[in-house]
Amino acid sequence: MCGITACVGRDDVVDVLLGGLENLEYRGYDSSGIATQSAESVAVVKREGGIEELATSLDAIEPTGHVGIGHTRWSTHGAPTDANAHPHTDCEDRVAVVHNGIIENYADLREELAAAGHEFTSETDTEVVPHLVADALDSGLSPDAAFRAAIDRLEGSYALAMVVAGEDAIYASRDGSPLVVGVGDDRQYLASDVPSFLEHTSEVVYLEDDDVVRVTADGHDVTKIDGTPVDRPVESVDWQPEDAERNGFDHYMLKEIHEQPAALERAINGRVTADGNVKLEEFPRGSFEDVEDVMFVACGTSYHASMYARQMLAARGVSAQVYSAGEFATTPSPVDENTLVVAVTQSGETADTLASVRLAQERGARTLAVTNVVGSTAARKCDDALFIRAGPEIGVAATKTFSSQVAVLTLLAERLVEDVTGSPSEERADVLRALERLPSDVQQILDQSSVESLAARNRDRDGHFFIGRGVAYPVALEGALKFKEITYEHAEGFAAGELKHGPLALVTPDTPVFAVFSGDHDEKTLNNVEEVQTRGAPVVGIGSEESTAVAETVDEFIPIPDTHPLVSGVLANVQLQLVAYHVADLLGRSIDKPRNLAKSVTVE
Ligand code: F6R
Repeated sequence: MCGITACVGRDDVVDVLLGGLENLEYRGYDSSGIATQSAESVAVVKREGGIEELATSLDAIEPTGHVGIGHTRWSTHGAPTDANAHPHTDCEDRVAVVHNGIIENYADLREELAAAGHEFTSETDTEVVPHLVADALDSGLSPDAAFRAAIDRLEGSYALAMVVAGEDAIYASRDGSPLVVGVGDDRQYLASDVPSFLEHTSEVVYLEDDDVVRVTADGHDVTKIDGTPVDRPVESVDWQPEDAERNGFDHYMLKEIHEQPAALERAINGRVTADGNVKLEEFPRGSFEDVEDVMFVACGTSYHASMYARQMLAARGVSAQVYSAGEFATTPSPVDENTLVVAVTQSGETADTLASVRLAQERGARTLAVTNVVGSTAARKCDDALFIRAGPEIGVAATKTFSSQVAVLTLLAERLVEDVTGSPSEERADVLRALERLPSDVQQILDQSSVESLAARNRDRDGHFFIGRGVAYPVALEGALKFKEITYEHAEGFAAGELKHGPLALVTPDTPVFAVFSGDHDEKTLNNVEEVQTRGAPVVGIGSEESTAVAETVDEFIPIPDTHPLVSGVLANVQLQLVAYHVADLLGRSIDKPRNLAKSVTVE
């Protein structure tokens, strides 16, 4: 939520800042801005709207500078206006600050600063920071000491970056929101997320909470707020710059849907042995033998992947629950040292999920992050991490990461079943074989899917319902989430058996029902299909190409390759991703940056 970028070099960095913001636009896109510094003052250009509005202003104003910060915003405090866009400055334009997070005590600080004569020009919580720094500079502190004095007063969560007139350096700090330094030759970078500067360097330093970094053209120094030096390692990220580009596709979402075979190959690669066993390097056999209970905490699409995994565990005798992380963080279930709390999070930065991890750790549970981002907060805070290796996902709607999460959670589930129950699941060999076939099965769908015409027939309806049971239930929920977030049309997912307990009242001839069939308990779902057909609703069935019973009952049939029921949900989900994509495309929606949403939600 909100993206920070910054660069310091020996020549002009304005284009680098703009490029850094373009690469981060998925983190927020309601306003953006940059600040550069000179000996006397800081110069700010900021605009409501997308980065293209900012680019137009930069073309007209032509600011320059070899030290600068930039920001793309997803509003929390204050509407998306020019005034509320970041960077924010003090009264005399000596200090400019960009911020990600929420400063909880900003109202008190603002009152105090206003009483001391500071004038505020925005409604944001962030604006207190440059004024606090200015106050500290006025009291004779150096920029470094003034920055530390200011952040010492803040309560809440933040990633902050600052430039000060006359200082060839960027100051930054984090507490609860990510920041990473990019190590270059003649230029150094700083951002909320690696894709911001990936085209310039893949050498990175992840900052920890309460770190303060001073970045100059020559390098960076990391200290704690009290000035104690800390050594943070330089790490290489193995993402390629082209992974974060559209590569000829109309949208990142479509590109990422098409990347699923490759992403799945990477997720599985080296993790299944030739004789059909799970090989998770991080977790050899016995790693989980003390586990009595598994609790997944996650949000959105990751929550649906967790539900999928819970089905795999519960069905094979491992006690497992799944919690919406925001709820777990509010009302945690009892845990102890035999509880494994699995935080499933693509970004590794979702505030609700991190809050759940913190609570679980305080209460003595063992924690494991299943994430896409090496170096993310979840990966570093949890006791262990398992990476899904999907590569960067730029489209706000999660697609390839759902498939990769399910694949990796399937492997984890097999390891857990064996360790917790003492013997491997009876179906392990079949499940793993199906998993190995998954990349080519997904490729077959991508090569043959013809849902575009179906999308045209379903673009203008009163509502869209998605139903499924077993692993097809989380797929139904995920299908509805994807549909609503990018088409802005009403869509809801239900457990197939739940429809008749209320939602059936909404079913009419103008509410198509997408019924997902996994190959398990399909006859029951077919009964539910008949219930909605009786009320006149057209039913689109997604199921195995070999399931004639399904194909003959539903009104339209979307086939998927025949596979193990526990794996089939991933294939059905790919078809639903394509349906949502094509409907959104026909409606002309902003597919990669849906309204009101941001990729990484770093506020609770
Ligand atoms: C939906 C979507 C969101 C995320 C959710 C959790 O397409 O992308 O629902 O799944 O915000 O994000 P992560 O997985 O980064 O914790």
